[in-house]
Amino acid sequence: EQSARELVSSLIASIPDFPQPGVTFRDLTPVFASGPALHALGTSLTEPFAGRFDVIGGVEARGFLIAGAASAICGAGVLTVRKAGKLPRAVLREDYALEYGTAALEVHEGELPPGTRVLIVDDVLATGGTVGAAARLVERAGWEVAGISVALELEGLGGREALGDRYEIFSLLQY
Ligand code: PRP
Ligand code: MG
Repeated sequence: EQSARELVSSLIASIPDFPQPGVTFRDLTPVFASGPALHALGTSLTEPFAGRFDVIGGVEARGFLIAGAASAICGAGVLTVRKAGKLPRAVLREDYALEYGTAALEVHEGELPPGTRVLIVDDVLATGGTVGAAARLVERAGWEVAGISVALELEGLGGREALGDRYEIFSLLQY
């Protein structure tokens, strides 16, 4: 049987010089397009935290796909951690740095009961800005970060170091 790691890594496409010269873009769309690979990803990102989370926190946009797949597998619901300006009720907002400028993520206040354990999932951990902002939102909302789980960790970009030892971080693959 092919391991989840082998299956997912065999489907990640590497595109040199995208979106700019010198950057190699890791494209997970072939993983999302494969039923077995998406299932394997949903399983392998939640298994290390089994019994230790109540809800899966999916980060818009690519994190939603993994969160949805994982939800169908393990039965937990999904907290949608959205890009700013999308949620209709009262929100908490966290800004984070991008290569140029800033972006922001939001969650609805009171979406989950206090103390709910949220497992944050996303496709890629690069600088850590995105999942870091998601984790701060979870804490400010009065919930707990059960952990951070990603398909792919780009080790050269220092995300794990930037997040510190505050959170348990799992990555299926390291590039
Ligand atoms: C990408 C990726 C991660 C994030 C990782 O999202 O999906 O969420 O960047 O980078 P970081 O660790 O440096 O924050 P992006 O916001 O580019 O697009 P998406 O909406 O397609 O997920
Ligand atoms: Mg993203």
